[in-house]
Amino acid sequence: MTLRGKEFPEDFLWGGAVAAHQLEGGYDEGGKGLSAADVTTLGGNGVPRKITDGIDPNEYYPNHRAIDFYHRYPEDVKLFAEMGFKCFRTSIAWTRIFPNGDETEPNEAGLEFYDKLFDECLKYNIEPIVTLSHFEMPLHLIKEYGGWRDRRVIGFFMNFAQVCFERYQDKVKYWMTFNEINNQTNFETDGSIFNNSGIVPKPGENRENLMYQAAHYELVASAQAVKLGHEINPKLMIGSMIAMTPIYPLTSKPEDVLFAQRAMQTRFWFSDVHANGFYPKWLLNHFKKHNFDMDITAQDLKDLREGTVDYIGFSYYMSFAVKDTGKLEYNEEHDLVENPYVKASDWGWQVDPVGLRYSLNWFNDRYHLPLFIVENGLGAVDKLTDDKKVHDDYRIEYLTNHIREMKKAVLEDGVDLIGYTPWGCIDLIAASTGQMSKRYGFIYVDENDDGSGSLDRYRKDSFYWFQNVIKTNGSEIE
Ligand code: BG6
Repeated sequence: MTLRGKEFPEDFLWGGAVAAHQLEGGYDEGGKGLSAADVTTLGGNGVPRKITDGIDPNEYYPNHRAIDFYHRYPEDVKLFAEMGFKCFRTSIAWTRIFPNGDETEPNEAGLEFYDKLFDECLKYNIEPIVTLSHFEMPLHLIKEYGGWRDRRVIGFFMNFAQVCFERYQDKVKYWMTFNEINNQTNFETDGSIFNNSGIVPKPGENRENLMYQAAHYELVASAQAVKLGHEINPKLMIGSMIAMTPIYPLTSKPEDVLFAQRAMQTRFWFSDVHANGFYPKWLLNHFKKHNFDMDITAQDLKDLREGTVDYIGFSYYMSFAVKDTGKLEYNEEHDLVENPYVKASDWGWQVDPVGLRYSLNWFNDRYHLPLFIVENGLGAVDKLTDDKKVHDDYRIEYLTNHIREMKKAVLEDGVDLIGYTPWGCIDLIAASTGQMSKRYGFIYVDENDDGSGSLDRYRKDSFYWFQNVIKTNGSEIE
């Protein structure tokens, strides 16, 4: 089939994606409380970010100001409209609505900010797409309750979800509960369990057990939120958000293939529970084998069954590879190997457009639900020329190659794909490193890693390229 001249479905949602803490700034304005992101310092390429116990005046926290979207959003949304966005994915900072997380009444100033932001989008017919929890848990819940290790946090999350659904139900149709809930598969890395679950392990604690328990509470909260959201308004579409990194066997040796299968099961049991409403058997056996202490009640299992998601939202940046390790237990910190068939980005992410088509088909076969690519993109160093241009042909090439595979999955394989929102449509703070210099945007923001810079916005070459992709509904991608 020739792809040229063929369009995506008429109502396809082209847009861009961000998260509140990575672009808003205004970390202490409008009554906002401190979140996990507010105590995470600047790292670097290969240098992990530090998580501090409260704000240390001697440290630099890039998310405190970020790109100042909190004040500049009208200018930025106007630029999204100029590109032709049909939708804009962001998150609601939990700490703007419930500054500590455990209050009973929401903070009106925080609610008003998102009213204004969503109205600004809707003014241009841009549909807001919202993630409830995107690595920005209230710090108070982390310190007082130990984050998602405590069952009571389900109730606090539900208060937050209920307030958001009730307030924004006429402005926001598509929701996601927890961003990249499965990224904590890498539970040996402090950042992954802190960002996802607000967990700071105590010495001697079994991190794997902790992660499974926290994730269980999150999945119950997610299921309860799906159910409640539908009761509030049956039109709401509430999905999961999964970090899709297909895990290939390095060779066709049967043991490699079997190990890769177990690695996929381990990384994607989260979406199994989201979509199927029950735990996979192998995982229940894994809990038993390791004598994990798991608090899973009969009511939880009922909630999971009754709150399955409406669609699968997922991010896609790269693929992984593994080979047999002699035991059928996947450890993401140690078991990944280099794939000789794909090239890595400057940050070591293995770039693999074909893996996107594979992922779309894999999700489609496994869950038979609509899919939504809510993140994809290339983090790269950009250069602003003297005449204020950015010639980011490498980004255009990356995105073209991924859209091509996406187009094949939709037009040739029949995958039901709702939309595509490339990550960091405007340059923002990188989640893993805190850098500004790891840029994804179509819009350049004049800001350096240390926070210096004018914050002025400039259209990159990719801005005009993506504007044309949307205008032609992808028909020129071949
Ligand atoms: C995903 C997150 O992990 O990838 C985003 O949902 C993040 O928050 C994005 O920014 C890209 O990662 P990074 O570390 O390059 O910002």
